Amino acid sequence: MWDDQGREYIDCVAGHGVAIVGHCNPKVVRAVRHQAGVLITCPEVFYNDVRARLLERLVSIAPRGLERAFLCNSGTEAVEASIKLARLSTGRSGIVAAVRGFHGRTMGALSATWEPRYREPYLPLVPGFSHVPFNRLAAMEGAVDDNTAAVLIEVIQGEGGVNPATPEYLRGLRALCDERGALLIVDEVQTGFGRTGKLFACEHYDLEPDILCLAKGIAGGLPMGAVLFGGRVANVRPGRHGSTFGGNPLACAAALAAIDYIVEHDLPGQAARKGAWAQERLRGIEARVIRGVRGMGLMIGIDLRVRVTSYLRALMEKGILALPAGRAVLRFLPPLVISDEELAMVCDATEEVLTA
Ligand SMILES: Cc1ncc(COP(=O)(O)O)c(C=O)c1O
Repeated sequence: MWDDQGREYIDCVAGHGVAIVGHCNPKVVRAVRHQAGVLITCPEVFYNDVRARLLERLVSIAPRGLERAFLCNSGTEAVEASIKLARLSTGRSGIVAAVRGFHGRTMGALSATWEPRYREPYLPLVPGFSHVPFNRLAAMEGAVDDNTAAVLIEVIQGEGGVNPATPEYLRGLRALCDERGALLIVDEVQTGFGRTGKLFACEHYDLEPDILCLAKGIAGGLPMGAVLFGGRVANVRPGRHGSTFGGNPLACAAALAAIDYIVEHDLPGQAARKGAWAQERLRGIEARVIRGVRGMGLMIGIDLRVRVTSYLRALMEKGILALPAGRAVLRFLPPLVISDEELAMVCDATEEVLTA
């Protein structure tokens, strides 16, 4: 990236994790240019060939059992749709989410988001939401009852500090939801499309969600969200939920190109290899301020003993853009196409900054 003064940066913010295939990926640009000259908008009440191709493609790459899809325009809209689907399907209203979970900023998704700073200015939020500590199955067992429509969870909490779930926890959640008739919604808005080293993070755990929320990198940088769902989700007929812009042909063409690029270039495999290398390199940094390094693939967090802001500024001065996750976690979400050399430069600069 270049700023208005022409200074060059290695961008490990990537539009908050959106630019998985890089900025202005030529395949995406070509597809958007072409589609812009054919048809930009087409409401979902009409058939559209590009949208139909994308829906088929999404279902073909989705984790097992997810054979239906709804298209929208952002992560928070995907989460809203998932909450509505869960309530519609189960006839129950309760949603149990996790402490430090982040699911978006519209009222339903915000009600599932834990961070008080984001919630408190907007109280009262939507009723029926509760939060329990992450990675503690016993807490979830105490919270899921016969009015619980869904458990809503990130496989790796992103904004909450790059915290991966344990395999036992996710296995337990799946069994608990089955036992108590609740749906399991997995929010992969940040982890989806290769970021963690698999196309979807739930594949690391062999986890089969009932509803999967996607957005960020799905359309190569254009706004788009998607909800995939399976046979356990009942009562869903066309028209129960909708969106004017959702599934517009322009975003669909961009998404088809982005997904092709991700699959053709094995970006999940690249993220796994590059992420493993970077995490090992970062773990080797000896600095008093570092509490630990966490992550999966190219979703990496360095947990610091102090506030992160000054380190982000120092990195920016060295030409590296990174982002926080909470107050004390330095987070890297680079495009998955980052080169080995660029990644090494990021790690070298991080070492210099954290040991200065
Ligand atoms: C896990 C998760 N869910 C939902 C969202 C909300 O997505 P959006 O900002 O596109 O509404 C985000 C955004 O960072 C996210 O990380």
